[in-house]
Amino acid sequence: MTTERRFACLAEDVAPGTAITVPGDPPIAVYHTEEGEFYATADTCTHEKWSLGSDSDLEGCEVTCPLHMARFDIRTGEALCFPATVALRTYATEIDDGKVFVVG
Ligand code: FES
Repeated sequence: MTTERRFACLAEDVAPGTAITVPGDPPIAVYHTEEGEFYATADTCTHEKWSLGSDSDLEGCEVTCPLHMARFDIRTGEALCFPATVALRTYATEIDDGKVFVVG
């Protein structure tokens, strides 16, 4: 598997406590926690394909998909509760001169 470093967005584009979708193949959700950390996962909920970067609730390092209330740990991608049972793919993030890059 190759490792790719991809420009995602400007750090200032993602307010603390929110997420955005970075379009592409595949689309990636970039999260900015209230604590100031950036994380990235696959954008698509593993339950029924909801866009987590476009519409979700971020609390700490847990994101809730509003469609059926599945929760995921954005650090590991782990599905924390039903109805999701499959983890989200995760990507490393690098902040460089105010820009967010995702790696993976
Ligand atoms: S689509 Fe996300 S919980 Fe169902």
